[in-house]
Amino acid sequence: MWELIIMLYRSPSDEQQFEAFEIGHIMFMVLDHDRENPLHHAPIGKSPQHILDIGTGKGTWAIDMADMYSSATVRGVDIFPPPVTWMPPNCLFEVDDILREWTWREPFDFIHMRLMLGSFTPEGWDQLYKQCYDALTPGGWIEQIELDVRVYSDDGSLKEDSTLATWGDNFIGCSDRAGRSLLTQETMRGAMEKAGFVDVQEKLYKIPLGPWPKDKVLKEVGQLQYAHWIAALEGWAMWLLTKFGAPSPWSTEEVQVYLSKVRAELRNSRTHAYEPCRRVWARKPTAEEEMADLAIKTEPGV
Ligand SMILES: C[S@@+](CC[C@H](N)C(=O)[O-])C[C@H]1O[C@@H](n2cnc3c(N)ncnc32)[C@H](O)[C@@H]1O
Repeated sequence: MWELIIMLYRSPSDEQQFEAFEIGHIMFMVLDHDRENPLHHAPIGKSPQHILDIGTGKGTWAIDMADMYSSATVRGVDIFPPPVTWMPPNCLFEVDDILREWTWREPFDFIHMRLMLGSFTPEGWDQLYKQCYDALTPGGWIEQIELDVRVYSDDGSLKEDSTLATWGDNFIGCSDRAGRSLLTQETMRGAMEKAGFVDVQEKLYKIPLGPWPKDKVLKEVGQLQYAHWIAALEGWAMWLLTKFGAPSPWSTEEVQVYLSKVRAELRNSRTHAYEPCRRVWARKPTAEEEMADLAIKTEPGV
């Protein structure tokens, strides 16, 4: 189990994977450039006190949040230490498996996750949302943003027989066989509701793959997402395909050939490919709402 947790995110070069996380962070900032604060959508107010970033990766989101909210202590937790040499004094990094018992004493106002797809089994996700629910202050917020690994085009420019067209289903198959579905963007809303979160809201995006859009901002997003893919490709693919590839695990050489095809297709500017992406944010009920809910549940005949 531990090997699985570690290896799903180990790339041939950790430095390269951290570089991919950084490019992904910038891409998400540009994607929501029209917002005064592109770091989150949940209405957490001007002076939150305690913020948690689960699976913080390189830690850039946590550092930016600590800079933005000097009132808050921002904790970033990951099974790997982030490669940071400097952080604001109100930002703390901890190395731990988030599914282990939480020992933080202060309740959080806000818990954030980004690109955690494929990290947990369905039971693991249920446990995690429950841990988040329990650790949030009443009225506190959770927010998660996840990519759909499948690639689409709206104008037929993505050829059905291309490697990119089948890329997503290939990896969804691998992750299902590994017991950690990559369809997190489809399941997270329901899992949050199941944990008791209310006021659930979501935003859908189409993230271009490459600088093909005419719109200036989307062109930049596409350029960044292309760079994100190039930096992350081998880390995403090698372990899953050599362990869980179909019809049988692939050899390293087969994966390398496959990835060269993907790189070539990504460079084709005639393909107007994109990946769907979903952001969901939701609130823990206030103390009054919890009391009212309890009263309904304990009413005779209910
Ligand atoms: C794809 S990266 C995303 C990093 C960061 N959230 C971002 O958006 O740049 C997923 C991160 O989740 C971490 N992770 C996976 N399973 C974890 C666990 N059980 N506990 C803590 N962190 C975990 C990985 O180590 C990795 O850094």
